Amino acid sequence: MKDINKLLKNLKSLKGPFPRFDPTNVPSNLNELFQEWFTMAIENGVHEPHSMTLSTINRLGDPDARVLILKGMDDDGWYFASGSNSVKGQQLKMNPNVSLTFYWSLIGRQIRIRGTSFMVGKRIVQRIF
Ligand SMILES: Cc1cc2nc3c(=O)[nH]c(=O)nc-3n(C[C@H](O)[C@H](O)[C@H](O)COP(=O)(O)O)c2cc1C
Repeated sequence: MKDINKLLKNLKSLKGPFPRFDPTNVPSNLNELFQEWFTMAIENGVHEPHSMTLSTINRLGDPDARVLILKGMDDDGWYFASGSNSVKGQQLKMNPNVSLTFYWSLIGRQIRIRGTSFMVGKRIVQRIF
């Protein structure tokens, strides 16, 4: 078996160069910032920039997480598709508090969103508060 710690030691992370980020020039509307960075991720060739980690809480109060695809976004929030009988669907019914994490390695940026999820028709919407 390979020595995983040796492999890890040789792996690089956050190597750049990355687009410059000017924290003094951030739009006050966070949805706008998300759209700006998401567009930048696409323009820089990030693989599957619309994949994101949805974190939920299980019935014991422990965290759970999995990767999903972002299906849409507007002023009301971020949209994802989930079967209501899936593990995450059941967890969301018991506790709608969630977070979304996006990581775009080629631009060295991540976005974390915390909020409450709710059904919109057959979709579950994540709305920031
Ligand atoms: C790249 C990628 C995208 C995925 N997109 C979705 C998705 O949009 N909706 C979904 O329900 N599961 C998606 N999955 C599967 C979930 O990660 C997960 O395995 C599945 O939904 C079951 O999760 P649960 O047991 O917590 O409900 C995706 C997996 C990967 C790797």
